[in-house]
Amino acid sequence: MTPEADTTTPVRVGLLGCGNVGGALADLLAQDGEAIFARTGLRLELARVAVRNTAKARGPAVPEHLLTNDAVGVATAADVDVVVELIGGIEPARSLILDALKAGKPVVTGNKELVADLGEELFQAAAAAGVALLFEASVAGGIPILRPLRESLAAERLTRVMGIVNGTTNYILDKMENGESYGEALAEAQSLGLAERDPTADVEGFDAAAKAAIIATVAFGQKMVAGDVAREGISSLLPGDFAFARRMGFVIKLLAVVERHDDGSVSARVHPSLVPVSHPLASVHDSFNAVFVEGEAVGQLMFFGRGAGGRPTASAVLGDLVDAAYSLRGGAPGRLPQPVRARIRPFEEMASPYYVSLLVRDEPGVLAAVAGVFGRHGVSIRTMEQEGAPGGDARIDFVTHTATERNVQATLAELRDLDVVDAIGGLIRVVA
Ligand SMILES: NC(=O)c1ccc[n+]([C@@H]2O[C@H](COP(=O)([O-])OP(=O)(O)OC[C@H]3O[C@@H](n4cnc5c(N)ncnc54)[C@H](OP(=O)(O)O)[C@@H]3O)[C@@H](O)[C@H]2O)c1
Repeated sequence: MTPEADTTTPVRVGLLGCGNVGGALADLLAQDGEAIFARTGLRLELARVAVRNTAKARGPAVPEHLLTNDAVGVATAADVDVVVELIGGIEPARSLILDALKAGKPVVTGNKELVADLGEELFQAAAAAGVALLFEASVAGGIPILRPLRESLAAERLTRVMGIVNGTTNYILDKMENGESYGEALAEAQSLGLAERDPTADVEGFDAAAKAAIIATVAFGQKMVAGDVAREGISSLLPGDFAFARRMGFVIKLLAVVERHDDGSVSARVHPSLVPVSHPLASVHDSFNAVFVEGEAVGQLMFFGRGAGGRPTASAVLGDLVDAAYSLRGGAPGRLPQPVRARIRPFEEMASPYYVSLLVRDEPGVLAAVAGVFGRHGVSIRTMEQEGAPGGDARIDFVTHTATERNVQATLAELRDLDVVDAIGGLIRVVA
């Protein structure tokens, strides 16, 4: 069956865990059902949801009658086609995933500890059952990195992958870069909910090491576990280290680095690194993540985004869910259903800020006349700079607030007719 042939039978999803990520996934399935269908030809339906406490209030996307605390029942239910594990930790997540795989159900998980430490057992169970085990969300949350490594770059000889894969430590390092002590920066991260009360897993690099092991396994096709990763955290960094780095043209980042060496061996490590300020990874701030990939043919690539958070992570889970559903339906990912003709928004309705440059006569009242034209068309001015030009002319540069193409073009048309305007010097749309 292809997705085109079977567009009516929904793919029934059994969700194990409905917390930050599971709850956001339920919301996405409820809100975006039609959009997912239009893009994939699949109807994904939440069929059962296992939680610890069925009395806890959940959003409208999780109707009460779907809730149960019989997680094994959900993992093996006859009316569940795909299982999504979002409980976290080793047990009962491990046993539940094994139960689901043995029952012939593809499994999607975001559980990095489990995949990094016990991945081999799970991959073997999935292979034995002939079903997919997908875990995109286990590395760098919402950033799709494992699928590109596994599929788009499948034939590429990857040499090195370097990632900022822990948002908490990146946030702390950013603050230390700006003069805060380690203790102050950590306390701030904790008060924002970015760091746990016991921050060891993040600040000592354990979390990043688990992700490095997963990246290395996928990028190089050689199994690695978290314990194979050399690891050093950020807790012993001193303000002087940052001052030195700055003087030398570097920033300090906690990097997970996996490499394939000339003799075919591979290595993985996590430690604070001096990154040249000109390197793309140096501009990754706050709690963002990024993964920098180097391959012999492709050269350099960078993936950047939110490495955690309910919705970004649920987005990665949803991608895997579509993949798993395709595998069930025998359809090929990347094959669009018969797309309907696009409903195209006319260019005149596009909106952005604009840079507009005018050559005008340098005489009293010009500015008021020009500003009046902008105002009449509802285009409001954010900044303005005026410069005299030789021969009694002047140049005025404007940057507007967000305006539509239609209103800006109407403004320019009226400006062209104004006696005091000699020429429109330039019009460039600004990325907002
Ligand atoms: N949060 C993120 O930003 C993020 C990013 C990347 C990956 N992940 C991974 O995604 C997974 C889920 O994370 P999360 O932040 O969503 O966790 P969470 O908010 O703590 O949610 C855990 C869910 O599991 C349920 N649960 C716990 N024990 C259970 C049991 N024995 N049987 C059935 N359900 C049980 C809880 O039920 P109750 O609701 O009743 O307590 C809760 O709904 C983890 O593996 C995590 O590492 C999370």
